[in-house]
Amino acid sequence: MPKNILFEDTYSHIFMSVTILGIESSCDDTSAAIIRDGVILSNVISSQKVHEQYGGVVPELASRAHQQNIIPTIDAAIKNAGIGLDEISAVAFTRGPGLLGSLLVGTSFAKGFALARKLPLIEVNHLQGHVLALFVKQSPDDNNQPEFPFICLLVSGGNSQLVVVRSPLDMEVVGTTIDDAAGEAFDKCGKVMELPYPSGPIIDKLAKEGNPKAISFSKPSIEGYNYSFSGLKTSFLYHIRDEIKTNPNYVKENLPDLCASLQNTIIEILLNKLKKLVKATGIKQVGVAGGVSANSGLRQALLDYGEREGLKIFIPKISFTTDNAAMIAITGYYKYQAGLFTTQDVAPLARMDIR
Ligand code: KG4
Repeated sequence: MPKNILFEDTYSHIFMSVTILGIESSCDDTSAAIIRDGVILSNVISSQKVHEQYGGVVPELASRAHQQNIIPTIDAAIKNAGIGLDEISAVAFTRGPGLLGSLLVGTSFAKGFALARKLPLIEVNHLQGHVLALFVKQSPDDNNQPEFPFICLLVSGGNSQLVVVRSPLDMEVVGTTIDDAAGEAFDKCGKVMELPYPSGPIIDKLAKEGNPKAISFSKPSIEGYNYSFSGLKTSFLYHIRDEIKTNPNYVKENLPDLCASLQNTIIEILLNKLKKLVKATGIKQVGVAGGVSANSGLRQALLDYGEREGLKIFIPKISFTTDNAAMIAITGYYKYQAGLFTTQDVAPLARMDIR
């Protein structure tokens, strides 16, 4: 039977599945992922250990490590997915926000790959990606995704935001931090206790052995839905400074209580504004995203709150909390369907808001 070429060409996008290669390089993780029709096929993350000795990410070292990691990481993602290069429909990459040198590596690779393979190129906002990580399916029949609209608490090392999500590509930031982010509060207070960077996961672990009510630290009282963590940081610093005067071993002897009380205060600050927004909007679905969403205390507090108030709570898999390319690929998937492609003259941006 002769092929109906005109019919197949016109409607091929309906019949064919969409396979996206996602690339993430905004900070100190090089990651590549393959997503087919919203279902994850692979997600490879190459973390950079080089920064540990400096107590924070060193931008120049991060971009050099990205250059070394990017080809093996993408190669592994394609191999782990068990697909051929010719099955990729488009390349999605993080355009920003992030470290410019780091972003440049992923952006340049994505542009070169798209040009060589004659593929559409899709730019992704890293923050939008964090939110849409909640939509990555583990299998074709995984239907555990939020319905619209929902509220997303986006908490990472650089952001603390309350986002109203009306559709995959329609998000409004209604509250943001006016100074430090929640992750910074964990990391900077961890530094005061001489914990290694990033301190968030270590504080989380130590907090399990401590009393969350042992010490009270100051909480901000600002209007609206914005956050502030600089006051807490100062109050934490002053508390330790004062206690050390009488007991030089104070931190060592009280580490679990310090961690539990600090974590409890951060969670209370985050949840207070979230509760206010839920009350004002009447939205019954709440998600959490970003590196700090790995925090076990925050996850439990959200689940308890959801149960008390009859809300549906969406918590990402731990591997989707920190920077990963699966979230970039899923955002690319939605943009592909909306026909939102970019051109070869696209450049990375250090600062970008969720639009
Ligand atoms: O999203 P992310 O990987 O990087 C960006 O900021 O883009 O977030 C990193 C932040 C760090 O501040 C780290 O301390 C924090 O997430 N973090 C945690 C936990 N795991 C990571 N904070 C508290 N508890 C955790 N379990």
